[in-house]
Amino acid sequence: MAKSFKYVILGGGVAAGYAAREFSKQGLNAGELAIISKEAVAPYERPALSKGFLFPESPARLPGFHVCVGSGGERLAPEWYQEQGIELILSTEIVKADLAAKSLSSANGETIEYQTLIIATCSEVIRLTDFGVEGADSKNIFYLREIDDAEKLYEAIKEKNNGKAVIVGGGYIGLELSAVLRLNNIDVTMVYPEPWCMPRLFTPDIATFYEEYYTNKGVKIIKQTAASLTANSNGEVKEVNLKDGRVLEADIVVVGVGARPRTKLFKGQVEQEKDGIKTDAFFKTSVDDVYAVGDVAIFPMKMYGEMRRVEHVDHSRKSAEQAAKAKENGETIEEYDYLPYFYSRAFDLSWQFYGDNVGETVLFGDKDPNSANAKFGAYWIKDGKVFGVFLEGGTSEENKAIAKAAKVQPPVENKDQLAQEGVSFATNL
Ligand code: FDA
Ligand code: NAD
Repeated sequence: MAKSFKYVILGGGVAAGYAAREFSKQGLNAGELAIISKEAVAPYERPALSKGFLFPESPARLPGFHVCVGSGGERLAPEWYQEQGIELILSTEIVKADLAAKSLSSANGETIEYQTLIIATCSEVIRLTDFGVEGADSKNIFYLREIDDAEKLYEAIKEKNNGKAVIVGGGYIGLELSAVLRLNNIDVTMVYPEPWCMPRLFTPDIATFYEEYYTNKGVKIIKQTAASLTANSNGEVKEVNLKDGRVLEADIVVVGVGARPRTKLFKGQVEQEKDGIKTDAFFKTSVDDVYAVGDVAIFPMKMYGEMRRVEHVDHSRKSAEQAAKAKENGETIEEYDYLPYFYSRAFDLSWQFYGDNVGETVLFGDKDPNSANAKFGAYWIKDGKVFGVFLEGGTSEENKAIAKAAKVQPPVENKDQLAQEGVSFATNL
C-alpha cells in the first residue's frame, strides 16, 4: 500500500534538514512530513565532507555535523525527527516522479504520495567518463558528493599513506581536497586546464596568492588537461596522462570538475530554465503544490534582477526556510532577497565572498603568501558602486562588514583611496 503524507521533501541533504526545522516551527502534526533520501543518514552539513571529515586527526563524524549546526543552530540528530513525528525514509532512491498524480516511486518498488512536494535533489557530480576520458572507470578514482564517497576516500587515504594523488580540477573540490590530502601526508599534484585556479570567482591576482600558498605547502600545480588514465593489471589507476604528453604517477585520483542539477526525474513535467527548475521568489515551481529549493532551483535573484542558480550551502538553507514559510503563510511573507555568499576553508586559510563578481576589481591588503598574517581582499566595482567583496583571513566583524558593503553597494569615488583603506572602507560604513 502506498504511503501518503501532507508534505514530502525529496532529497535528504542540507535543504531538507532546514526545511524540516522550519515546518516544525510553523506547527507540524506527527505523520505529516516525510523526507526521502537515497543516503542512509539523516540530513547533515555537507561542507564537512571536504574538510573535517578527512582530517588526519580527530576527523569529524556523525552525529557531530547533522544540520543545523553549520549555521549555529541546534543539531538535529535522528531522534529529533522521531520526536517531531517526521518520517525519515532513508536508503531509498526515487526513480520516478509523477507530478500530475502526486506520486513518487522508489527503486525498491514503494509508492509514496504527497499533497505538497519539496524538490531538494541538489546536484550530481560531472564525471570524467562523461567527457569520454579513457581509463576514467579505473579503481581508486574518487568523486565527492555524499557521505559514502567521503568514507571511501577516507579509507583510500589511510591505505595509500605516503602515496601519490592527482587532483583533477581547480575549483572548490580541487582546492579543498588538495589541502586535506596534503595534511594527510599524501604527495599531491593538482591538474586543471585553466590559467588560474577557481576561475569562476578568483581574479588572476587572487588566484596567485592561493597557488603560491599551496606550492609552499608542497602541492604541485600543473595547468593542463588530463587526457587519459592508465590502470595496472588489477584495474587500479596508476598514471594520469596529460594532454602535453607528461605522465603523472597516481595511487589515488580525486576529480572535482563540477556538478549539474539533478532534474531528470521531472523533465517535461515542470518548467525549467537553463539547467535548473524554475521557481518564483517563494520557491514555487510551475506546478501547483511543488516547490524546488537548494542547488536545483533557478530563482529570481532580486538584487541583480535576473534568474540564477546557486550551488552553495547558505542559499540551500535559506531557500528551504523560505519555501516552508511560504507554504504555511502564502505570499504574505516577503519575497526572497538573497545576497550571494560563498566561502571556503583549506590549510589555515579562510575566505568569504559576498555579492556579485562583476565589473573591475580593486585589490587591497597584504597578499604575500609568505607573510605570517596575510590578509587581503578585493572589491568588485560596477557603475561606480561596490558589487562584490572578497576577504581572506577576515575576523567575524570584518566579514559582517563586507557582507553589508555588498548589500548596500556604497559608491566608490576614488579607487586608489579604496585600495588604501582596504577592509576599513567596509567596517566604517
Ligand atoms: P544536498 O546535496 O545537500 O542534498 C541532496 C540530497 O538529495 C542527497 O541526500 C541525495 O542523496 C538526495 N537525492 C538526490 N536525488 C535523489 C533521489 N532520486 N532519491 C532520493 N534521494 C535523492 N557550499 C558552501 O557554501 N560551502 C562549502 O564549504 C561547501 N562545501 C561542500 C563540500 C562538498 C564535498 C560538497 C559536495 C558540496 C559543498 N558545498 C559547499 C555545496 C553545498 O553542500 C550544497 O550547495 C548544498 O548541500 C545543497 O543543498 P541541497 O539540499 O540542495 O542538496
Ligand atoms: P567547480 O565548478 O567549483 O570547479 C570545477 C573545476 O573543474 C573548474 O574550475 C576547472 O578547473 C575544472 N575542470 C573542468 N573541466 C575539467 C576537465 N575536463 N579536466 C580538468 N579539470 C576540469 O566544481 P567542483 O569543485 O567539482 O565542486 C562541485 C560542487 O561542490 C559545486 O557545486 C561546488 O559549489 C560544491 N562545493 C562547494 C564548496 C564550497 O563552497 N566551499 C566546496 C566543495 C564543493
